[in-house]
Amino acid sequence: MLSTTQQRKAAKSYVLAALEDAGLSRDDDDGRAFHARFEAHFPQLFDLFATLYGAHESCLDQLAQLIVLAQTSWRDRADDLKALDTARETTPDWFQSNRMLGAFCYVDRYAGNLAGLKEHVPYFQELGITYLHLMPLFDCPKENSDGGYAVSSYREVRADLGTMADLRRLAKDLREAGISLVVDFVFNHTSNEHEWAQKAAAGDPEYSDYYWIFNDRRMPDAFERTVREVFPDDHPGAFIQMEDGRWIWSTFHSFQWDLNYSNPAVFCAMAGEMLALANQGVDLIRMDAVAFIWKRLGTTCESQPEAHLLLRAFNAVCRIAAPSLLFKSEAIVHPDEVVSYIDPAECPISYNPLLMALSWEALATRKVELIDQAITRRQPINADCAWVNYVRSHDDIGWTFADEDAAELDILGFDHRRFLNSFYTNQFEGSFARGVPFQYNPKTGDCRVCGTTASLAGVEAGDAGGIDRMILLYGIAFSAGGIPLLSLGDEVGQLNDDAYKQNPGQAKDQRWVGRPLRPDALYAQRFDQDTDAGKIFARMKQLIDARRAAPGLAGNAIRPFPTDNPHVLGYVRSGGGQEICVLANFADDAQEVAADQFLDMPPRMTDLIAGESFHVRTGVTLAAHQILWLTLSV
Ligand code: GLC
Ligand code: GLC
Repeated sequence: MLSTTQQRKAAKSYVLAALEDAGLSRDDDDGRAFHARFEAHFPQLFDLFATLYGAHESCLDQLAQLIVLAQTSWRDRADDLKALDTARETTPDWFQSNRMLGAFCYVDRYAGNLAGLKEHVPYFQELGITYLHLMPLFDCPKENSDGGYAVSSYREVRADLGTMADLRRLAKDLREAGISLVVDFVFNHTSNEHEWAQKAAAGDPEYSDYYWIFNDRRMPDAFERTVREVFPDDHPGAFIQMEDGRWIWSTFHSFQWDLNYSNPAVFCAMAGEMLALANQGVDLIRMDAVAFIWKRLGTTCESQPEAHLLLRAFNAVCRIAAPSLLFKSEAIVHPDEVVSYIDPAECPISYNPLLMALSWEALATRKVELIDQAITRRQPINADCAWVNYVRSHDDIGWTFADEDAAELDILGFDHRRFLNSFYTNQFEGSFARGVPFQYNPKTGDCRVCGTTASLAGVEAGDAGGIDRMILLYGIAFSAGGIPLLSLGDEVGQLNDDAYKQNPGQAKDQRWVGRPLRPDALYAQRFDQDTDAGKIFARMKQLIDARRAAPGLAGNAIRPFPTDNPHVLGYVRSGGGQEICVLANFADDAQEVAADQFLDMPPRMTDLIAGESFHVRTGVTLAAHQILWLTLSV
């Protein structure tokens, strides 16, 4: 038997010969740059590939094809992107700056199409956005597309939005405006209209192997004993029946078919789609539904060890052929699982669903014990990585805290989630929230909540604390580390929109309530202090500007700050020689943090948001829902 080193060596010669055959091993600058990266990352890629696919007869051929693909893609990569690759290698921490501000929107809903979106770039710059996530914009089925999360071609932009050339141009315009482009890589599944899916549906054996297809119910029944139902409103279990009677895995909607990553051909094909995306000028890809990409009988089929190996393998391919591209993980799962994806070799960037959900939890309960525990226990991550801290996404809010964490505080997970769902869907007496329930599963009692920030925080209900609560939540997302993410339209207080109910492709998916069209009328009021939109905009801008000027908010370093008040959250951020003590009052009345808590703080501190200064050694009083970013007064 060969040792691993011998195997690697043999594989390398095989791959190099394949590059030679493909006429790719030219000894010019470009070829040398590729080879340096190949030398650095091939050993790891080989090991991953061997672990994932060693038992497969085509393993080595697939690996050779993959490297041929990588070099072809590198040859095609535009010079300005190659320059960016080099620049980013010298500033790998670029995304940790306190000047980073993320935002997301739907191209059609915000601006009609890509050309229309370009018109908004000056506004994005004025606001301070440096990272723009465009919701899925590739070809997808007309009516049912899960908001574009059912991709029919990764190589074509949806016709009504523009073309790939438009996307490339936009990426360039954004880059020149200091804004990185983020798009989704929906790689767990394709739509049922994707060419591969159509071939599979027609019975083609090669493409049937691209998906999880079974002739009868035996395997589906066995798998379904342990997997959860993600969209029970759409179909029970994880499988749906195809027209020819076979059963196919579809975790999400019945038109989203899960790819079979146990087949190396699928990995190679999707690596090709990923590199093609990278060459359009995308800076960051959101790895959609990462938890679901590997299936193993007898498990939940979520966050399997191989899911991590697959991400590492995709990442290694990028390091070779599109080194500046970064991965962001979308894992809306148990907090232990969420962090397991955060690693420079896997996904250096990750959504922070726990902090998001617990900010809402604290607003409802007016108590900070759970969020405080999360900041102490679950917020610290690898220093070379970053959280994306957000108040809400385009999806539902799921109460993803760990039951075992809650139990330590005598909170019963199941009951507490039930309370939060009823509170946020306005079924709880006195609630300020106007959310809508999503995917209620009577079998498990599970449910999630949809709505815009303003509607959930009380602005829609006309609650006196509505605007303050919005600023409180954004004030946390903007100061808790990593990259804050704004849902475009929230900065002028967009409200829930029921129009989706009239649209057949959306009517059954309540998440659309939180995806309104660009609120033009509210934007028109944004400088008018007599309107809610104007008040919200001015205060959001204040937060944004304060963050940009505060080096202490860069990076991730965070430590808890005990306030000894059950309604006031505290934490300390530090960096660039600045220390910032964040205090956030979740109560509906004024709260005090006593003098004793500030013994280690400088006596005079200034709030970076509103500029007020405090003699903290006599204690600090916060107004209802007030947030302070206190630092040493100068
Ligand atoms: C992600 C998306 C969500 C979509 C799902 C399936 O969770 O955020 O909108 O429904 O993946 O692709
Ligand atoms: C995500 C999550 C699920 C969420 C859904 C779409 O991947 O796992 O909790 O609700 O997809 O919204």
